[in-house]
Amino acid sequence: MITSDIKIIRERLLEGDVIGLPTETVYGLAANVFNSSAVKRIFETKQRPTTNPLIVHVASISQARALVKKFPEKALLLAKEFWPGPMTLILPKNQTVSDLVTANHTRVAIRIPSHPLTLQLLNHLDFPLVAPSANPFNRISPTTAEHVESYFPSIYTLDGGPCQSGVESTILGFEEDEVVLLRHGAIPIEAIEGVVGRILNRTHSSQEGALPGQHKKHYSPNCELIVTYEPLFMLSAVKNKRVAIVWFQTIQIESIDVEVNKVLSPTGDLAEAAQHIFSVLHELDQMGIEMIIVERLPAHGLGLTVNDRLDRAAAK
Ligand code: TXA
Ligand code: MG
Repeated sequence: MITSDIKIIRERLLEGDVIGLPTETVYGLAANVFNSSAVKRIFETKQRPTTNPLIVHVASISQARALVKKFPEKALLLAKEFWPGPMTLILPKNQTVSDLVTANHTRVAIRIPSHPLTLQLLNHLDFPLVAPSANPFNRISPTTAEHVESYFPSIYTLDGGPCQSGVESTILGFEEDEVVLLRHGAIPIEAIEGVVGRILNRTHSSQEGALPGQHKKHYSPNCELIVTYEPLFMLSAVKNKRVAIVWFQTIQIESIDVEVNKVLSPTGDLAEAAQHIFSVLHELDQMGIEMIIVERLPAHGLGLTVNDRLDRAAAK
């Protein structure tokens, strides 16, 4: 059920329910971090393994501090610069955060989202909210309330319109004095480095599954997906399939072998491309397209984030 009534959503959370929540990145599936049966229900609803920890959403830096043993200096610098906003920090948890939330890790993922409705909601609750993206495990992340509704029709979803960033938050960890990138996200690496200097990139862990959230396969449509710098070359190898091509900036050639052409950003703006990528994949998947060929984005800024999501969506 989609609602724009924040009071209904607040009541459901107080009752221990799981609800759909808008954020500036993607929609989340949210519950009271301190209610373990509600937290368990999130894992069940998403069919997510309990070895994959959840992000805690808070209203303020002081609410974040109350959950951790230590807030490293660089973490504080970043929080002051980018919160509220699409950046998640992995910090050493204290005993107030259950092992269920962190999947037995000693650290907890925390962010302050910037969506105004969700900030308002958090400010009217006396507990933070855990919220993974509101998609079943391995499926495309939702960027509208309707996407959440199509996955989970029986829960209440707060309608906050289409998500502004359209891709998940950037995740950062801390090792001694170093900042470590764990997931490309809505804040480009260059912007993070503008605040704390060079950071380590651990987004391609050498051991598959070594870090949570680095599953090779993720964000997948039902149909086949290919990501390439040469869509037309890939098209030449496809026979007798309903094909869509998703171009970055311009349609290079209209072909009768292509049922749908989509353009992510006519002006070549990486942020606009990121904003649209998941909703375009949802739309093509729902049309019953059998193969989506996506043009790879330039490998800098948010292009790296979108390419990361596409590579995981394409993984077998
Ligand atoms: O933008 C976002 O981050 C969205 C919105 C709803 O806030 N949330 C989101 O959550 O993307 P989720 O669960 O789909 O992805 C969070 C990622 C997971 O890959 C998880 O493994 C990782 O963060 N993560 C969570 N807690 C962690 C921890 N303690 N240590 C390392 N990674 C962690
Ligand atoms: Mg997710």
